[in-house]
Amino acid sequence: MIRSAITGSGSALPQRCVSNEELARQVDTSDEWIVERTGIRQRYIAGEGETTSSLAIEAARKACEDAGIDSKSIDLIILATATPDNTFPATATRVQDALGCNGGIAFDVAAVCSGFLYALATADSMLRTGMAKRALVIGSETFSRILDWEDRTTCVLFGDGAGAVVLEARESDTDGAGVISSSLHADGAQHELLYVDGGPSTTQTVGHVRMRGREVFRHAVVNLAQVLGEVLEESGLSIADVDWLVPHQANARILDATARKLGIDPERVVVTVDRHANTSAASVPLAFDTARKDGRIKPGDLVMFEAMGGGFTWGASLIRM
Ligand code: UT7
Repeated sequence: MIRSAITGSGSALPQRCVSNEELARQVDTSDEWIVERTGIRQRYIAGEGETTSSLAIEAARKACEDAGIDSKSIDLIILATATPDNTFPATATRVQDALGCNGGIAFDVAAVCSGFLYALATADSMLRTGMAKRALVIGSETFSRILDWEDRTTCVLFGDGAGAVVLEARESDTDGAGVISSSLHADGAQHELLYVDGGPSTTQTVGHVRMRGREVFRHAVVNLAQVLGEVLEESGLSIADVDWLVPHQANARILDATARKLGIDPERVVVTVDRHANTSAASVPLAFDTARKDGRIKPGDLVMFEAMGGGFTWGASLIRM
């Protein structure tokens, strides 16, 4: 049996860090409100020349280096983003060209904040059926470019960044490492609660993020607990077996509520929302890379990813490192 093992990770952030205090000088908000309601203290905002592809390329190069592989040997790139460089072609093809692995498969996935989970499950399926052997799964976003900077209910919540993992097909008896189970969902009836009010086929503009935060919050806690229960049940493992929960970083209060519902020790939850804010599809791989590089996540650990976002879409994966 083939398993898809994570053999490397990398991440990238724009140069400019923007604190809550700096934002409060431009928008009618305060550090106190943002910290109390979301746990966010700062975010990184892309400057001139920094794009979804440039962040993705940096994260991807670091992931290849970490895995100890030549980027030319990558035969599949799946890039999750809601903020592509261009409407087409896929930003993944820019990454492919920069890495010099032209000729393989490269495409984008649009599932907003759940994008990395959708990309990971897709890459896992493709590796297990033999369509590819060595994949890069990337989440990269420049959400700052689709924010309405006059809407304080959304502009304080998001940041830019990228995270990437190398996923390699291996015989499952090698060391037991790999994706154990994944579960994905979508509910198109909830479109109005979180969406962008533009697009090529409707307004011929890029549009801005619109969100009814309180309602999204309510759905997030319920949907995430459900999908995490599904991946555990499918694997025959229990929450007590999980070493690290790496959740989508939207709001510290959602992380606390999800941890409580699951019954996992908050010390086992990777939290980066304070530093990165909500980076949409980049948030899970960014948090994962942070916890791997600081030595928390180790070989052999059981790690759970989860995310929920616009659509709605939501998903989870259980991975043995
Ligand atoms: O990544 C995709 C998934 N997204 C999420 O999971 C986001 C989920 N939602 C949330 O994280 C929270 O709902 C928010 C952080 C967006 C909002 O927190 P909340 O506790 O639900 O606040 P609220 O929307 O109920 O607003 C409370 C008050 C309002 O004032 P009134 O009507 O009570 O007078 C808002 O106008 O806070 C006001 N407010 C602000 N005040 C200062 C909203 N935004 C701000 C702001 N600064 N930036």
